[in-house]
Amino acid sequence: MIKRKVGGRGPISNGPMHTRPLVALLDGRDCSVEMPILKDVATVAFCDAQSTQEIHEKVLNEAVGALMWHTITLTKDDLDKFKALRIIVRIGSGVDNVDIKAAGELGIAVCNVPGYGVEEVADATLCLILNLYRRTYWLANAVREGKKFQGPEQIREAAAGCARIRGDTLGIVGLGRIGTAVALRAKAFGFNVIFYDPYLPDGIEKSLGLTRVYTLQDLLYQSDCVSLHCTLNEHNHHLINEFTIKQMRPGAFLVNTARGGLVDENALAAALKDGRIRAAGLDVQENEPYNPMSGPLKDAPNLIVTPHAAWYSEASCTELREMAASEIRRAIVARIPDSLRNCVNKEYFVSSAYGETLNGSTGYNFHSMAPHSTTLDSMPTGAPGAAAAAHATPHSTLQEAVQLTPKPESSELH
Ligand SMILES: NC(=O)c1ccc[n+]([C@@H]2O[C@H](COP(=O)([O-])OP(=O)(O)OC[C@H]3O[C@@H](n4cnc5c(N)ncnc54)[C@H](O)[C@@H]3O)[C@@H](O)[C@H]2O)c1
Repeated sequence: MIKRKVGGRGPISNGPMHTRPLVALLDGRDCSVEMPILKDVATVAFCDAQSTQEIHEKVLNEAVGALMWHTITLTKDDLDKFKALRIIVRIGSGVDNVDIKAAGELGIAVCNVPGYGVEEVADATLCLILNLYRRTYWLANAVREGKKFQGPEQIREAAAGCARIRGDTLGIVGLGRIGTAVALRAKAFGFNVIFYDPYLPDGIEKSLGLTRVYTLQDLLYQSDCVSLHCTLNEHNHHLINEFTIKQMRPGAFLVNTARGGLVDENALAAALKDGRIRAAGLDVQENEPYNPMSGPLKDAPNLIVTPHAAWYSEASCTELREMAASEIRRAIVARIPDSLRNCVNKEYFVSSAYGETLNGSTGYNFHSMAPHSTTLDSMPTGAPGAAAAAHATPHSTLQEAVQLTPKPESSELH
C-alpha cells in the first residue's frame, strides 16, 4: 500500500494569495444547504452528471473537492480524470460507488457521512417487517380497489398470511449502527432477535441483550425473518443467493434496506414464486431506480419495493448535507486526513499533528486533537452553521452555485 504524507497531491491552496478552491457537487443541482457552509472558503459548482463524461473539464482539472450522492459511480478510470482532486465526500453512508482503494493511491481522501439517518432507516425497516407480518400494504390496496370484507370468513381470506410477531425470530445480518437500531426496536415488538456479524468483538451481544450466531448459515436456519444491514463489499456480493436461500426456513420473510447487490434478484424472484420465501420488502435494488416492468422481480408475488428512500426525512436530509459540506470545509481549512471526521481510506495517508496546513501555513494542528462535537465546527462567523439556521437559509443561495456542464455554451463561471 502506498502511504502518502498528508495526501500525494499536496495541500489545498486557500490563502489570501490564492484563488478560492473549486468544490463540485457531481450528481445534483441543489447546493442551498452546502453554500452557506462553503462559500467563504470555496467556489461551489454543480454538475448534475450521471457519469464523468458529463462533467465539465474545469471540474476535472481544477476541483479539489467533490460532493456526490449515489447516482454517479467513480471507478479508477473515472478518478484518474480528476487532476486536482483531494477529497470526495459521499453524501450518504455507503461508499460502494467509489473505488476507495484507487482513490487512496491517487492521494484522494474519501469520506462518508454515517449516522445521519440511522433512525429513519431503522424505522423504515420496521415498517417493511411489519407490513410483511401484518400485510397492511396488501390489505390497504384491496380496500382501495373497492373490495368489501364482511365477516370473519372474508377477512380470513383477505388477510391470509398475516402472522403473529411475538416469539418469532428476527435474524439481523450486520449489527452496525442501523442493525443495532433495528434490533432494539424489534425487541419491543416481541421478536427474539439474533444477529450475525463476524467483524464485531465478543461481548456486544451481552451489552445489547441479543443472541449472537457465528455463521450466516446458522442465522438463516434459525430466522423467521431475515433483515440485511451489512455494508456491501467485495466479500458479500449476492450474500443471499440460490444456495443461501435454501438454508432459510421455508416461508421466511426477507427485508433488505442495506444495498441491492447483497441479494441475487433472480434467486429471490424464484423463491417468491415457489413460496420458499413468503414475502420480501426491498428498499434497495441491484439496479436503481427500480423498474417494476422489467428485471427479474417484475412478476414476483408478495413483494414490496420502496425507492431507496429509507434514509429520508426532512431532518435527516438537511443534517446529511450539512455534515457532508462541513467535511469538505474541514479539508480546506485544516488537514487531510487528521481533521476529517469520517475518512474511509485514511490508511493511505500519513497522519501528522505538525506540518503544513492545507492553507499553506505551518504549525500545530489543533483540529487533529479536538474531540468530535456534534456541532458544525470551523464555521464562518455569522454563517448559518447550526442545523436550524442552515435549514432556514433561503433557497436563493442556489444562485451562487455555478453550474458546470460539459457543454461549452453553459460553461462560463458567473
Ligand atoms: N436504504 C437506505 O436509505 C440506507 C441509508 C443508509 C445506509 N444504508 C445501508 O445500510 C447498511 C448499514 O449501514 P450502517 O450505517 O449501519 O453501517 P455500519 O458500518 O455501521 O454497519 C455495518 C455492519 O455490517 C457488518 N458487516 C460487514 N460485512 C458483513 C457480512 N458479510 N456479514 C455480516 N455483517 C457484516 C460490519 O461489521 C458492520 O458492523 C449499509 O449497507 C448502508 O449502505 C441504507
